Amino acid sequence: MPKIAVIGDVHSFWTDFDIQYFNNSDYEYLLFTGDLPRFFGGISDAKKLARLSKPVFVIPGNHDGSNLKQFMAELKNKPMLSHLFGRGQDKMMKSYDDALGMATLSGYSTHPLPEFGPDVSLIAARPHSMGGDRLYFQSYLKRQFQVSTIEESIMRLKKIVDESAQNIIFLAHNGPRGLGDKASDIWGCDFNTAYGDFGDEDLRVAVEYAKGQGKRVLAVIAGHMHQRLKKTKQRRQWFIFKNGISYINAAHVPRIFNHNEKKWHHHISLQFEKEQLQVSEVLVTPQGEVRTQIMERSELDYST
Ligand SMILES: [Fe+2]
Ligand SMILES: [Fe+2]
Repeated sequence: MPKIAVIGDVHSFWTDFDIQYFNNSDYEYLLFTGDLPRFFGGISDAKKLARLSKPVFVIPGNHDGSNLKQFMAELKNKPMLSHLFGRGQDKMMKSYDDALGMATLSGYSTHPLPEFGPDVSLIAARPHSMGGDRLYFQSYLKRQFQVSTIEESIMRLKKIVDESAQNIIFLAHNGPRGLGDKASDIWGCDFNTAYGDFGDEDLRVAVEYAKGQGKRVLAVIAGHMHQRLKKTKQRRQWFIFKNGISYINAAHVPRIFNHNEKKWHHHISLQFEKEQLQVSEVLVTPQGEVRTQIMERSELDYST
């Protein structure tokens, strides 16, 4: 059965073993939720993904193509300063795209996934999302995508839904609103609990719109809100099955970690089983050990 691998926010946790592992795997597609660099930029990290021999889709996050000053201006909601410090972002993203080689830089785009199913599209949502209720990197999004408000982003995403196949997988950097406002919820804010639900409103509306148009949304995949909570260091909820849709926060950061004197590499596996999407968490070591946990849909259906 066809399989997709989802790799959450990389943040420079990527080695030659990952290249070998995924190139020798039986995955048809590899999806990256963005935030490739440890901090900012990401061109050298993008270059490493160019060595993958499978079809790859990357949606850029808030760390991709940006810089520290711009990032701080965004955090403090200073759009003019962000504009000033972010003037090089177009050039940076062009170099980032070049560095990705055959891997596809996505965002406000739709892509057929013929190996995964005859009528399946991948929709890459708003690139460079930073969560919350406002549009970050406004001037860059306006220049590149003619989007300068959340409302314009919604319109753009709806148009992309219309152009997509009957079955849809959404790939975003940050997940949709509406899935909980606690710090430990799938896209709840852990750095300031006053923010509550830190999901994206435009993505929430796009998913609802797709369903309203009679399309089947198989999965909504994103990262950004890292699984390990800032204050308690506990793990946030990272998978929800709700109203027939699998919501996955793949941002296990760091995705390579030590346990029992071994280095474990994290990713998520998606597989069609009996017309249903099966979601599994997979941990592997360069020594060939594998740990797989299949997420049980019945236990995790929050739709009632
Ligand atoms: Fe992020
Ligand atoms: Fe991140």
